[in-house]
Amino acid sequence: MIPINKPILGHEEKEAVMRVLESGVLTNASAEGGPLVKAFEKELAKFMKAKDAIVVNSGTAALQVSLLAMNVKPGDEVVVPSFTFAATAGAVLLVGARPVFVDIDLRTYNMDPDAFRKAITNKTKAVIPVDLYGLPAEMDEIREEAEKHGIAVIEDACQSQGASYKGKMAGTLGDAGCLSFYPGKVMTTGEGGAIITDDEELAEKMRMIRTHGQMIGYDSILLGGNFRMPEIEAAIGIVQLKKLPAFLEKRARNARMLMERLSGEGLFLPEVPQNCVHNWYLFTVRFSSEKEREAVRERMRKEGIGATVYYPTPVHRLPYYNSLGYGKVELPNSELASKTVLSLPVNPLVEERDIDRMSEIISQTLRSI
Ligand SMILES: Cc1ncc(COP(=O)(O)O)c(C=O)c1O
Repeated sequence: MIPINKPILGHEEKEAVMRVLESGVLTNASAEGGPLVKAFEKELAKFMKAKDAIVVNSGTAALQVSLLAMNVKPGDEVVVPSFTFAATAGAVLLVGARPVFVDIDLRTYNMDPDAFRKAITNKTKAVIPVDLYGLPAEMDEIREEAEKHGIAVIEDACQSQGASYKGKMAGTLGDAGCLSFYPGKVMTTGEGGAIITDDEELAEKMRMIRTHGQMIGYDSILLGGNFRMPEIEAAIGIVQLKKLPAFLEKRARNARMLMERLSGEGLFLPEVPQNCVHNWYLFTVRFSSEKEREAVRERMRKEGIGATVYYPTPVHRLPYYNSLGYGKVELPNSELASKTVLSLPVNPLVEERDIDRMSEIISQTLRSI
């Protein structure tokens, strides 16, 4: 089986975990965190070329802490794409605010800046553009519009660590950027996430929110929760971050090969704008019809290739969101994408012969329809 994504762990990670267990220091409930949390944050901020990184226990927590730190409250609206993982919108509901779903640009699968512009009301407090599949959203246009209206920009970079936009790292393109270290991501800590920001005041607030709004001891100055990253995860993160450039290189090589093999096959290949570097978390193609997509997906499944649909249902039509009345919102590009996209494995474990097999399957299946 060729998985769509899989954590790649070696003896370095095992040794790092063993050292934590031997030390007996598993976590630290202070705002600043334990020694490995602090060390991981320092390395991560350096990698991101940002002033600060605040690590937390998931990408979802990173979004939630960002919203709390930006005072997003019940009655506020937050503009989000619907063609994303449910966590983007879920984090908004968890702080009591209302997600406002907008459509995507079909060329990039990212938030359409025009749709964002049209969705702004006097209740809009924040916007969460998602760098879907690892391609940064059209951030300059979104930021410009957000600035005009005093709207906070939280970049959901949970899929795009290592990508860049106009020479800047994905995750540093908004007022805050959120990363995920879930095992399927380009690097992992088991579960985990981080917030990247250049705003020192915001960073201080986020560190407090991460641990019950406490600054010193049991003082709870702000509303917070337990969003802390354990030391074992930080230890794994330090090792994985060192390996990340090599992982990304292999993904880029695989994506290049797949792009070459699939050109001229009559399907929509990923479009990477000139000013962007993709991290190839997912290599997503689009077919002319759902029938074509399903035929290719079925054939891949039979041949042990984990080609996967991200996402088969736009968030606004998922059962819970439907129950809140969002299902009536019309987002034609998101609907079309959910019926016709398919992500192919390009993770670092994929080899040239796997790329050849995938290309052959697509070519043969499309010719047989
Ligand atoms: C776009 C997006 N946002 C948010 C998340 C949430 O991250 P996590 O699973 O670490 O909570 C994910 C990851 O699964 C994601 O892909």
